[in-house]
Amino acid sequence: MSRSPSVGANGHGVQAEDTRICVVMVGLPARGKSLIAQKVVRYLRWLSVPAKTFNVGNYRRLDTPQPTAAFFDTSNKQGEKLRHAAAEAAVNDMIKYFNNKAGLVAVLDATNSTKVRRKWVRERCDQANISTLFVESKCDDEDLIMSNIMEVKTTSPDYKGQDPESAAKDFRNRIRNYERVYQTIEEEEDLTFVKIIDVGSQVVINHIKDHLQSRVVYYVMSLHIKPRSIWLSRHGESVYNLTGRIGGDSNLSHRGEAYAKALPGLVAASVPQDAHIQIWTSTLKRTIATARWLASSKKQYTTLEWKALDELDAGLCDGLTYGQIKDRFPEDFASRDADKYNYRYTGGESYRDVVIRLEPIIMELERSENVLIVTHQAVLRCIYAYYMNVPQERSPWMEVPLHTLIKLTPRAYSTEEQRFTANIPAVSTYREKGGEAKHQTAEDEVGLGELEIRDIQANEEEEAAEKMSSFDEEVEEVIEKANNEAAHGA
Ligand code: ATP
Ligand code: F6P
Repeated sequence: MSRSPSVGANGHGVQAEDTRICVVMVGLPARGKSLIAQKVVRYLRWLSVPAKTFNVGNYRRLDTPQPTAAFFDTSNKQGEKLRHAAAEAAVNDMIKYFNNKAGLVAVLDATNSTKVRRKWVRERCDQANISTLFVESKCDDEDLIMSNIMEVKTTSPDYKGQDPESAAKDFRNRIRNYERVYQTIEEEEDLTFVKIIDVGSQVVINHIKDHLQSRVVYYVMSLHIKPRSIWLSRHGESVYNLTGRIGGDSNLSHRGEAYAKALPGLVAASVPQDAHIQIWTSTLKRTIATARWLASSKKQYTTLEWKALDELDAGLCDGLTYGQIKDRFPEDFASRDADKYNYRYTGGESYRDVVIRLEPIIMELERSENVLIVTHQAVLRCIYAYYMNVPQERSPWMEVPLHTLIKLTPRAYSTEEQRFTANIPAVSTYREKGGEAKHQTAEDEVGLGELEIRDIQANEEEEAAEKMSSFDEEVEEVIEKANNEAAHGA
C-alpha cells in the first residue's frame, strides 16, 4: 500500500505555475480587512498552502501602543514617520519570509489607502519577484461601521483600559483622518485587484493572473457577515460502529435510531425560533437516516445530499476492523500512525484527499447562513479543523464522539463552540495512536449498549435487528429522556 502526499508537485496543493503572492489589503479602518486577512490565511493553511499575515498595526504598536486619532493625521510629521517605519518593517519581514522559502502567500494587513503607498508596496514586491493581489474592502454604511467599531475596536489593544465610548469616538476621528487622503483603487493604477463593495453586494475584479490568485478571489467573494451558526453531527451509531468495522454503508443501530429521533429536540434547544436551516448529509444511508426526523420536523428545514460529505474511503480496508487491518497489513497500519494526515489507503483516500474534496463544501458554507451537517468521523474532523484552525498533525486524531451535536458560531476573529450531548449511549470509535479502538471492548458498555452488542455479534445485521425489537420500549424511554433534557437546555 502507498503513502502519498497526493497534491501538486510542490506538495502544497497548488499548481507549479503558481507564484508567491502578497495579498495587499486596502481600505479605511474598520472595514473588515484584518478579519478577511485572517480568514484567507486560515483557509490557505487548511489547504496546505503555507501562508502568514503581516499586520502593520502590530509593528506600529511596538513604538506607539496607544495612539490618539491625531497620530493618524497626515500633517503630523512624527506620526507619518513612525507609520512608514512600521510598514517598512512589516514588508521587510514579509520579504524575509518569502526568501526563507517558508511561504507561498503573505497577507499585508494595513490600510494601504493611498496610490503612493500601493505603488511603493508593489515596487518592493516586484523587486523581490513576488506577485501582488490587492484586496480592497469598501463600505460606506455608517451604521455598520459604527457597529464594527463597537464590536472590535473598543476592545483593541490600542484602547486597553479606556472607556468604550471615548474609544469609539477617538476611532471615529481616526477614520476621518484616513478619509482625507483615502483613494479607492482605480483601473489606471494597473494593479491585480479585487474590490469588495458593501460586504460583497458588488465586486470588481481586475487582471487576476493564476490559479491560486483566483482561488483567493473566489474565497473573499464568498464571505459574508450575517449572524449564523454551523451545526456538526456524526451519524447515529451504526451497525458497523458496533462491530468495529470501518467504512461501509450500514444501517443505524437501535441506539443510532434513538439519536436520530432525539436530534430534532437537541437542535431545537440550540436554534433560534423559526430559523431556516439547510441540512446537509452525505449520500450514505447512516447520515440520511440520522437526519430524516429532523428534516421532517419543521418546514424551515431543507435537505441536501453531498457526495463530498461521504466518509474517507478506506479502499482495500473498507469493512475491516482496525485489529484486522493491523494483522493483515501491519506496515500500513504503522505508516498510518506515523503520518495519519498523509497516509492514503490503497484504492482509497487520505485526510489530505478529503480536505481537497471538501473545498467546495467550505466555499458553499462561507456563502450560506445556518447549516447543519450530518456526516462521518473523518469528514467532520476536517470541517471542524477549518473552523477551529486545528493543525494537520492533530486534526486526524481529534476525538469526536457519537451522539453529540457541535454548534460553531463564527465571531469577529474566532469561532465559538458549544457541544450538546444526547445522553444516548454509543460505542466509542476513537482509536488512539498504536491502539485498535475502544469499540473492540464495547462489552464494557452498560445497559442497552451491552445487550445490543452481544446480539449484533451473534447475528448478522438483519437477524440482529429483528431480535433487538424487544428493546424498543427501552429505546423509546431513552429518546424521551433525551428530548426532555434537550428541551431544558441540557
Ligand atoms: P483596521 O484598519 O483598524 O485594522 P480593519 O479594516 O482591519 O480595521 P477589522 O478589525 O477586520 O477591520 O473589523 C472587523 C469588523 O468588520 C467585524 O465586526 C466584521 O463583522 C466587519 N466586517 C467584515 N467584513 C467586512 C466588510 N467586507 N465590510 C465591512 N465590515 C466588515
Ligand atoms: O469508525 C468510523 C469511521 O467513520 C470509519 O468509517 C472511518 O474510516 C473512520 O471513522 C475515520 O477515522 P480514522 O481516520 O480515525 O480511522
